[in-house]
Amino acid sequence: MAFFFALVCILISLAIASYVHYSRRRKGKGQGHGGYGGHEKASLKLPPGSMGWPYLGETLQLYSQDPNVFFASKQKRYGEIFKTHLLGCPCVMLASPEAARFVLVTQAHLFKPTYPRSKERMIGPSALFFHQGDYHLRLRKLVQGALGPDALRALVPEVEAAVRSTLAAWDGRVMSTFQAMKRLSFEVGIVTIFGGRLDERRKAELRKNYSIVEKGYNSFPNSLPGTLYYKAMQARRRLHGVLSDIMRERRERGEPSSDLLGCLMQSRGDDGAPLLTDEQISDNIIGVLFAAQDTTASVLTWMVKYLHDHPKLLEAVRAEQEAVREATDGGRRPLTWAHTRSMALTHRVILESLRMASIISFTFREAVADVEYKGFLIPKGWKVMPLFRNIHHSPDYFQDPHKFDPSRFQVAPRPNTFLPFGNGLHACPGNELAKLEMLVLIHHLVTGYRWEIVGSSDEIEYSPFPVPKHGLPVRLWRENRTVERKGCESGNVEDIIV
Ligand code: HEM
Repeated sequence: MAFFFALVCILISLAIASYVHYSRRRKGKGQGHGGYGGHEKASLKLPPGSMGWPYLGETLQLYSQDPNVFFASKQKRYGEIFKTHLLGCPCVMLASPEAARFVLVTQAHLFKPTYPRSKERMIGPSALFFHQGDYHLRLRKLVQGALGPDALRALVPEVEAAVRSTLAAWDGRVMSTFQAMKRLSFEVGIVTIFGGRLDERRKAELRKNYSIVEKGYNSFPNSLPGTLYYKAMQARRRLHGVLSDIMRERRERGEPSSDLLGCLMQSRGDDGAPLLTDEQISDNIIGVLFAAQDTTASVLTWMVKYLHDHPKLLEAVRAEQEAVREATDGGRRPLTWAHTRSMALTHRVILESLRMASIISFTFREAVADVEYKGFLIPKGWKVMPLFRNIHHSPDYFQDPHKFDPSRFQVAPRPNTFLPFGNGLHACPGNELAKLEMLVLIHHLVTGYRWEIVGSSDEIEYSPFPVPKHGLPVRLWRENRTVERKGCESGNVEDIIV
């Protein structure tokens, strides 16, 4: 439900923006757009598809079924490019690798990122995913630097410590896997940003306020005191306050640092002046925390389920990880970057989990000009959605696509068919960090623990990314230990999730 509500809120906000845009556009009609003269444009047709009812479009059809079924059935009927209309927004959906490349890479300048204003205000309008052009490029370089291989190599011990403590806290209990993985991803986000030097008090302040922001993120935007949105905006202000204090203290100490915060604070423009204001830095720190947490936690949750559901595969992964454990002297020495590079099968399991779960089913852009694609017109102002999940689940690109089969990644997928981290200028700069976190988690999980799923895991909920129902309640216990089972005799999943 949360997913649907989130989607409704996004679409309502986009609808309002579209309405304003189209009213303006109607007034300015006849001025020409994006290099197409009126004559040329007249010869282009809109993609096939249906626009549904006036204003409502096909919104009801979308909400009356699993959204993925909606997209898949449209593709079956109309092909790889089709139009629809969702809550006031005319949209073109694209389900082919070539089209995704066209929008995200080769003609990316014709499609700008588009988010509702309320979301921009909550994350912070200077966060990199809202931008294009020079500001975006400079910022991206800084973020990529702080998340690149050199930085990650140094982070392995911190990630390992976070994994060990997550699993130790779970030992002998039933927990929602998603909640446990969220805590882990938050910890990893914090060490990436602050380099593991943040004191517990500050960390607790960040965690508390960030969780209030999260709760309000998908709520209906209004500024009435007491509403989730209002509380989230207040918490966002407090987050900025905490981040400003941390930046001031760092300046007073005068120590340079190579963590993400350090990279942003030390960046200089051509004139030697600071490139970013504290406000811009805060927006980007909150943006990275936001981009890093639920995404990674959702995929990790699916991996725990996929490994559980495929015992032979789990044994093979365990054998690979036991060899790594031996190389670390039975776990007495820390994991290194080199160890994580030797986990070939586990890496394929990660890739297949990313493909199967496709937690980011699609992304949004908006056409900044009238654009022609394969003889079709994508009108200026329309939303454009490359459908990653449809591509990942197409038998044209992945044989037997609904089978969980990591061996398919023994051969590299065809170009532009595997896009869990997007593509082009806005592709995910955190992808290697996310994979590192997964490798380290799997290492300790399979070599140190056993687990079982409590209750049924077949239904899916959206939080807002798809995860198994109740976040996948799992009982976990240390290997070779007497199992200490707590509080689950009732068998009622709601009662036992902690
Ligand atoms: C499994 C985990 C993750 C998945 C599946 C994922 C997926 C994505 C995707 C698909 C995009 C592109 C969106 C678009 O083009 O509209 C993206 C962008 C982004 N991701 Fe991730 N992500 C993950 C983890 C992370 C982590 C761990 C971080 C940071 C530590 C991160 C930071 C970002 C940022 C900052 C952007 C915006 C880049 C830009 O606009 O230039 N992500 N992510």
